[in-house]
Amino acid sequence: MEMNIALLPGDGIGPEVINQAVKVVKAIGERFGHQITFTEAIVGATAIDQVGNPYPDATHNICLQSDAVLFGAIGDPKYDNDPKAKVRPEQGLLEMRRKLGLFCNVRPTFTFPSLLHKSPLKQERIEGTDLVFLRELTGGIYFGEPRGRNEQGTKAFDTNIYSVEEIERLARMGFEFAQKRRKLLTCVDKANVMATSRLWRETVQRLAPEYPDVTVEYEFVDAVAMRLIQWPKAYDVLITENLFGDILTDEASVITGSMGLMPSASLGLTTKLFEPIHGSYPQAAGKDIANPLATVLSAAMMFEYAFGLMDEANAISDAVNLSLEEGVVTEDISDGGKSYKTSEIGDWLVKQIQKKKSILM
Ligand code: IPM
Ligand code: MN
Repeated sequence: MEMNIALLPGDGIGPEVINQAVKVVKAIGERFGHQITFTEAIVGATAIDQVGNPYPDATHNICLQSDAVLFGAIGDPKYDNDPKAKVRPEQGLLEMRRKLGLFCNVRPTFTFPSLLHKSPLKQERIEGTDLVFLRELTGGIYFGEPRGRNEQGTKAFDTNIYSVEEIERLARMGFEFAQKRRKLLTCVDKANVMATSRLWRETVQRLAPEYPDVTVEYEFVDAVAMRLIQWPKAYDVLITENLFGDILTDEASVITGSMGLMPSASLGLTTKLFEPIHGSYPQAAGKDIANPLATVLSAAMMFEYAFGLMDEANAISDAVNLSLEEGVVTEDISDGGKSYKTSEIGDWLVKQIQKKKSILM
């Protein structure tokens, strides 16, 4: 297959972790006989520095013309402590999501047997967790208007707003995901308080009869926040609005034991995007110590969701699992034992992928 991939390394550790994913994707291309072309583009603080815009049109056009986008991270501390900054790197991320129509953010949470002890949660509670959040990504309070301050600057407001269409397209994705999995869908909302949440619940209830094989549960977000870490195995597919999804997926990453392992996919109206859920981790930038596995696993999701190539996706996750089992890991998960550099992990994964090739041939 021919694949054109847009590479958006972004800020902080973004470029380093994206480099490892590129090595792995190239190795997969060679092993499975795909023609893969990469086109790099700027985004985030890097793009503000170069052209004054965190998501320039040139970058958007490259994304639109590509078959998939591999994205690193966005964010720079010089903006975090300056609430008055006019342009912020995060605006680039939000613009990218909006312009590419990426309304469905797929964030899986699963455990790795060799890392169970890394989670602060009791092993028996998390072992075998396999859930996926579908977070609405282009609506809600992240984008709602009006937003801002009153004239005196003494009051601030944001607007949470959802249309039936926005809820329905995300909910249908949820039902379809559930049909392919354990057939349990949880609608996470705050319908006891919020009008938007009541529209979510009403819409999901209206759709449910169309998916008779899926069991639907409705749960308030505060209760989910609690049950998610008490008994994560109770969940299969969870659908929720933008802000709740942002918060709960960070919480869910604790189950895995490391943010450095969580990949994600954003699906919608145009080119699909794949990114690790960790941020730009500026303290580690340029040191070759960041964990590249979330980005590498995001590349696995790319083969699955953008190209429908399961063998390629599995070859990557198998290599990642082996690296974890054999302790070929970065310092964040090495427990004080031997640790490897970011680039060494990438090279090691490539070797595993190549090895399999020689066994097959
Ligand atoms: C995420 C991030 C972003 C978000 C930030 C960086 C704007 O936290 O992808 O979860 O809030 O969506
Ligand atoms: Mn977040």
